[in-house]
Amino acid sequence: MSILVTGGAGYIGSHMVWNLVDAGESVTVLDNLSTGFDWAIADAARLVHGDIADETLLDQVLGSGEIDAVIHFAGSIIVPESVSDPLKYYRNNTANSRTLLEACVRNKVRNFIFSSTAAVYGDPVTVPVPEDAALCPLSPYGSSKLMTEIMLADTAKAHDFHYTALRYFNVAGADPKGRTGQSTANATHLIKVACEAALGKRDHLSIFGTDYDTPDGTGVRDYIHVSDLVEAHALALKDLRATGESRVMNCGYGEGFSVRQVIDAVRRASNKDFKVLEEPRRPGDSPKVVARADKIRATLGWQPRYDDLDTIVGHALAWEDGLARRNRL
Ligand code: UD1
Repeated sequence: MSILVTGGAGYIGSHMVWNLVDAGESVTVLDNLSTGFDWAIADAARLVHGDIADETLLDQVLGSGEIDAVIHFAGSIIVPESVSDPLKYYRNNTANSRTLLEACVRNKVRNFIFSSTAAVYGDPVTVPVPEDAALCPLSPYGSSKLMTEIMLADTAKAHDFHYTALRYFNVAGADPKGRTGQSTANATHLIKVACEAALGKRDHLSIFGTDYDTPDGTGVRDYIHVSDLVEAHALALKDLRATGESRVMNCGYGEGFSVRQVIDAVRRASNKDFKVLEEPRRPGDSPKVVARADKIRATLGWQPRYDDLDTIVGHALAWEDGLARRNRL
């Protein structure tokens, strides 16, 4: 059987495709290449260039009878952009996911893995935050993903359909073998932006908010290496195929780092100093988001291999440096 990866040309999706291809799986990628790159897709995978909003195309791909699972990454991911352009997020993340889900039900594709987010918790009362915490997103991004979780739960009750929703914390780093990484132009992720500043691709880095109720006043996040994250999906797929149990699980390490700690790690890894400006808080940001991370380990037997901030930053920096050299050629 084959696996459909939506958004497989993007940052996380392209790592997923490499993981599946390495494991001998047959993979079809559906991507509109709006933010992803065809060169990021492993050669062994088939690329269908198109949109998950295209029902005719979805029926062609899912109706072939070859696909038994969908791993759904396609969507928009920038928290502040979702505040200024909410309807983009409700279209790309919620409405388009609905179209995809309906096509899965229509074509009897029963296994579905969804990239959800820690943003569904908003500003959690209990940190590390467990899966059964209250769901109170602070941004349209978080709401748009939560709506899809709700659709998944209802669809699984009504149909022969099973899903795993993984709530990602802050995904960072790059393939340790250097085959893919975060390549999006104008990316806003802290570690990406800090690496660009260290390599002179940006004039400075801004810290958004230095007055949070955290040890050094800056935002605290649970940074997880992208290779560990995609391995969690591979295990979730195995579990879904074997048990048919629908599950919702956090995907983080359970350890938080502040913006200043990340900046220090990037300075250490690059051996470069760069200008840092202190700016006001960014809309939609939570002060502190850290995963309670035991459920996924117990359920899937997930064992992270790169759960070390210096390793994550080292891989991100190596990828960024390669991109910089590629763009100079
Ligand atoms: C990220 C993800 C989001 C995920 C969430 C889960 C991205 C683009 N978004 O959001 O999909 O659901 O984690 O927790 O990866 N910061 C700065 N300066 C910068 C950039 C960021 O100070 O230039 C700070 C932010 O204010 C925040 C922290 O760094 O405190 C992380 O920000 P960012 O990397 O943008 O990710 P999140 O907004 O947490």
